Amino acid sequence: MRRYAFLILPSHNRVYAEAAPSLARAELAVLSAALPDGAISEESVAETVIGGVPYVTFEAGELSQRDTDLLANLSSLYALFEVAGPLDAEGPAGELLRPVPLRRLDRFDDDLLTILKYQGKTNEQFTKLLLNVTLASSAFAGALESRRLSVLDPLCGRGTTLNQAVMYGFDAYGADIDARDVEAYAVFIQRWLKDKRLKHRADFSPVRRDRKVVARRLTAEFAASKDEYKAGDVQRLEVVEADTARVGEFFRPASADLVVADLPYGVQHGSHGTGRPGGERPRDGGKTLARSPLDLLHAAAPAWARALRPGGALGISWNTHVARREDAAVALAAAGLQVLDDGPYRAFRHRVDQAITRDVLVARKPAG
Ligand SMILES: C[S@@+](CC[C@H](N)C(=O)[O-])C[C@H]1O[C@@H](n2cnc3c(N)ncnc32)[C@H](O)[C@@H]1O
Repeated sequence: MRRYAFLILPSHNRVYAEAAPSLARAELAVLSAALPDGAISEESVAETVIGGVPYVTFEAGELSQRDTDLLANLSSLYALFEVAGPLDAEGPAGELLRPVPLRRLDRFDDDLLTILKYQGKTNEQFTKLLLNVTLASSAFAGALESRRLSVLDPLCGRGTTLNQAVMYGFDAYGADIDARDVEAYAVFIQRWLKDKRLKHRADFSPVRRDRKVVARRLTAEFAASKDEYKAGDVQRLEVVEADTARVGEFFRPASADLVVADLPYGVQHGSHGTGRPGGERPRDGGKTLARSPLDLLHAAAPAWARALRPGGALGISWNTHVARREDAAVALAAAGLQVLDDGPYRAFRHRVDQAITRDVLVARKPAG
């Protein structure tokens, strides 16, 4: 067994306050089950103070490069060390922290994730956590090196999940009913691709059926390098302005490896700053959306499940003040998904503010 210690990103502590270490541990526990080679002993995961600074520590068999490549993407991870010598919280210890080189999946500048700031944005670190946990729960975490994965956010807003998926080199599909959100995202991403001088093709235009406009759709193809673009090794991005229950009209069955969505929080915030989730902007002259998050889940989960590839996973987050975990789980199970509800999967609940306590539910589509 070897011992490892990691530092939590300072911004993670700012976002989650006292929940930061427990969320970091829960994410680590879910990711560790997906490590291709090593195994982390779940009982060994602890918070440990070394030299007066808090770390998350754990024991594992020797981690391979493939293992650390996966762990490098933990949403809370700032720096990872192997601990040589006795690890004694009281000191003097004599332990040494040997940095483990990190190769994150990130393919683009991180302003892709941070430039857009708006009321109702899902915090980008939480979005990364939700995507990571969903990926690790699917059958496809081991496929990262061999093929391009795809993510559907059927409530994509202005694209926080889509941008994180793009950052990882995945294809990204989205739907949102709010025309302003889809338009703002289309404007943003086309501007960003231009500013970064990335080779791309992009289009935002109406979708017509029987000469009627049924939606508007953004499509884009781009690559991180000119050579990849020339070789046709491109990432695809597709976003439709449509009700989420209609995703089946725009995305083929079994076309997404992962479905990741942050449900409407069922609350309005008058004074939303950046980074806080959930504030639904007043729509339709100030009315909030008619459907409760749970009704929305019941109506849309079957379409989301159909869009998932067998072996794929779905991860949702929502406000537990407006929907109980058990009820959300029933909606996912009714759509034919296997809800993962044990151990670390029950440890993601955290307070966001006085109106929102957020939780995470992950479910898998049977491999068939
Ligand atoms: C919590 S927000 C998601 C925010 C998004 N993750 C982001 O960071 O921009 C929920 C989103 O669900 C969308 N929504 C609500 N009801 C919908 C429906 N029936 N069909 C499609 N989108 C819907 C809202 O417009 C909103 O953008």
